[in-house]
Amino acid sequence: MSGNVTCRLGVLVSGSGTNLQAIIDRIEAGDISAEIACVISNNADAYAISRASLHGIPVIVNENARFSDRRSYDAATVEILQRHKVDLVILAGYMRILTDVMVNAFPNAIMNIHPALLPSFPGLHAQQQAIDYGVRYSGCTVHFVDCGTDTGPIILQSVVPVEQDDTEETLSVRIQKAEHQIFASAIKYFVEGKIKIDGRKVRISE
Ligand code: GRF
Repeated sequence: MSGNVTCRLGVLVSGSGTNLQAIIDRIEAGDISAEIACVISNNADAYAISRASLHGIPVIVNENARFSDRRSYDAATVEILQRHKVDLVILAGYMRILTDVMVNAFPNAIMNIHPALLPSFPGLHAQQQAIDYGVRYSGCTVHFVDCGTDTGPIILQSVVPVEQDDTEETLSVRIQKAEHQIFASAIKYFVEGKIKIDGRKVRISE
């Protein structure tokens, strides 16, 4: 994406949407030349829906319970994203593992944020995994999505200290502040055409 072409984002959410909010704020501040074409939630009660509506962003609730299997659910999501002419898919607290149907529809154009320094602590409860292991530092990772669980090429990471008395909640709050910074920055690099993928390695040109 370069010149005056605006990148169209499709943001997938399941929960509170603080990362969605950070992205909205950076776009509205004029720092990222992108437009959120749609927000899709698999959870009708997600607070992220209210955040998007407040900013006039089209919201589609696509509940997975209506589908018999993950691939047909993903096919429906792809249809919505393509209808909204989405260039880059953002998983912002989207609590589902993607199938090949989604991954192949948007090659190297799906980003996820994970609350740990991958490849350590993939999957659920990454913050609790870090506390239980006893690491002194954890953090967050923005990566491209492949068919594995949190295995795709790493775009940006941020290191966050783990305090001795941390709970999953206190560590999550500290990590989320870093998430909001690096997720928006990774999107900005993509939109500005500064990201090249070379096998597992992501190269960012300044
Ligand atoms: C974040 O902690 C992110 O790392 C994880 O899900 C959480 C989503 O938070 N994938 P929010 O919905 O953006 O507030």
